[in-house]
Amino acid sequence: MVVKHFCLQMEDSLKEITSHAVVSSWNEWDPLKHVIVGRASGTMIQASEPAVQNDWPQQGFPLGIFGPMPEQMEAKANEQLDNFAEILENRGIRVDRPVPLDFSQAIQTPDWNQDSMFGCMPPRDVLLTVGKEMLEATMSFRSRWFEYLCYRPLLEQYYKDDPNFRWESAPKPRLTERTYKQDFWQEWHSLSEEERWRHTENSDWIITETEPLFDAADVARFGHDLFVQKSMVTNDSGIEWLRRHYPGHRVHKVSYTDQLPWHIDATLIPLRPGLVLVNPERTALQKAHNVLFEKNGWELVEAPKSVRTEKMPLCTCSLWLNMNCLVLDPKTICIEAAETPMMELLDKYGFEVIPVPFFEVSPFGGGLHCATADVYREGSLEDYFPNQIDGV
Ligand code: ARG
Repeated sequence: MVVKHFCLQMEDSLKEITSHAVVSSWNEWDPLKHVIVGRASGTMIQASEPAVQNDWPQQGFPLGIFGPMPEQMEAKANEQLDNFAEILENRGIRVDRPVPLDFSQAIQTPDWNQDSMFGCMPPRDVLLTVGKEMLEATMSFRSRWFEYLCYRPLLEQYYKDDPNFRWESAPKPRLTERTYKQDFWQEWHSLSEEERWRHTENSDWIITETEPLFDAADVARFGHDLFVQKSMVTNDSGIEWLRRHYPGHRVHKVSYTDQLPWHIDATLIPLRPGLVLVNPERTALQKAHNVLFEKNGWELVEAPKSVRTEKMPLCTCSLWLNMNCLVLDPKTICIEAAETPMMELLDKYGFEVIPVPFFEVSPFGGGLHCATADVYREGSLEDYFPNQIDGV
């Protein structure tokens, strides 16, 4: 009896040793061993705030009305998220999940009150892993100010487990009225197409340069080179903050022909060294970025259109989520299960494609890349762009 108990205890502690977390990831393609997968539970159509004006009268959420996502939708999204987690686990990848807060509660700081939070389906938006460091992004919506708390139980554990883990948090923004351009939405709705494109060309969106702001999902990681998109949620000051924060990296500011850009992962997706998936409708505003890829032997492959013609109700993302894939290693890739043209393309490039049903998750904040955050990928810091261009 005593012996058996002892053995069980040994087994338990062995399990614990082998499962100790180690944090490290330098890019989007090295072999993935440990990842966070988000949860749909408790997600809200968030209350209006300067940066967010949801208006879905047909679905029962006209402007000014907020509340939990419909129960049925949440259940289906969670089912697809759990299934995705299981697919990854069956491939020997360790999967951790966040702990949702009560997102329906009102929150406040000394500067403002906000009637609800959002959710924790897309960890990619909040957590940026670069090497041995995980960085909690500033975020730029009031409803997402406290979202990092959902990941704290995990990060606390990684901090205990891995003596080399660098746990960082970017300066929490004030998000006062000064952070947002007044009447941006009102003006936007009154603009012609042409005028809207002018805003895009000038990167003139809702957030001001009052303080550094960025979402982690505006960063695409290519080893030494980080491509950061200026967007609705990332400003110049935020990009500059990242530049100073990663002195060992080259931070490239990029913009695309996307009217209201937010998050780079339906626009530019690294697949493996030398191959990057690009959005044919969103071209780089600075041609030099394409030259930078070409000068370093990178092939830019255009994503095919989604097979879907309509988005899910209550979805703020575009149909280009078909690009939003998770690379498991340079030969293996997860793609949304219905996206046959995308699967065929990657098959042609020699990938083993794992189809993952994920469309029901889209109203909760994105696709397979959004729904994950890297904890550990094998591999080390490499330079994939030895030929740089001045000023790019
Ligand atoms: N704004 C992108 C699009 O609709 C969606 C990106 C979502 N990404 C994310 N990490 N949540 O095309």
